[in-house]
Amino acid sequence: MESPSTEILPENYRFLQEHVRARVGIVLEDNKHYLFESRLAPIVRQYGLGSINDLCALLRAKRNVALAHQVVEAMTTNETYFFRDPAQYEAIRTVLLPRLKAEKRDTRSLRFWSAASSTGQEAYSLGMLLLENGLQDWNMQILGTDFSEKVVERARSGLYQQIEVNRGLPAALLVKYFRRSGLEWQLTDAVRRMVRFETIDLRKSMRSLGPFDLVFCRNVMIYFDNATKKSIVKEIHRTLFQGGWLLLGGAETAINLEERFDRQTVGNVTAYVAR
Ligand SMILES: C[S@@+](CC[C@H](N)C(=O)[O-])C[C@H]1O[C@@H](n2cnc3c(N)ncnc32)[C@H](O)[C@@H]1O
Repeated sequence: MESPSTEILPENYRFLQEHVRARVGIVLEDNKHYLFESRLAPIVRQYGLGSINDLCALLRAKRNVALAHQVVEAMTTNETYFFRDPAQYEAIRTVLLPRLKAEKRDTRSLRFWSAASSTGQEAYSLGMLLLENGLQDWNMQILGTDFSEKVVERARSGLYQQIEVNRGLPAALLVKYFRRSGLEWQLTDAVRRMVRFETIDLRKSMRSLGPFDLVFCRNVMIYFDNATKKSIVKEIHRTLFQGGWLLLGGAETAINLEERFDRQTVGNVTAYVAR
């Protein structure tokens, strides 16, 4: 069978950019042809189409909602791994948790949010960190949310491939919190029961989700335009307890943080503390 053509006509390139931006907020610049080509080629094949241009014709006809969503999901980048940016987990362990343990010793209740949780490694890493740091008897809730149903479903399963547990997860934690399940590794209930996953678009109002002691919003703001970043930061601030932390991805900055957050430096980590 002939391989489908990956060439995208300029008007279709603009149509795809807008299709993704409108539905998920991700801005894909004019030089991302390779990304569209590599991510959409499997869908073109799946539907037996000749090219990405044919796929655009189908999308323009607006008859297939599932396809429209599948294209958007294909264009999200879901890269993640356990204990990504370990210095942040160390800052939580050494500075945030001791403070929360003292402040919340009466209620013994803590709430955390992994916004843009992808396949769940971030939320589960936090869960393991809490269990490893004397909080087993506390009421701890971790919410993981992502736009993509596909990754949320995977996160819920708590099943990871060998290659995934090889990335960032210390061997001692693998032994303690995972069981072999065929070729995969299953997280134990001790961690899974702390974490709940939901499909949520970060651009929607998130006030009802909080209040949280810590929000991770890492490696997702980079994909949004400034207006979107600004409104997400404002919404996240509303979900945090006063003094709660917002942690961004290593190389990320967000617009207007200083209006609502104090910057606290812990080692080489920047934590944004809600005013
Ligand atoms: C690169 S992953 C980051 C995962 C994790 N936070 C980390 O740093 O390892 C980015 C995630 O953001 C999600 N995402 C993109 N746009 C979103 C939106 N508008 N609302 C919610 N999640 C979104 C994607 O589906 C993807 O799973």
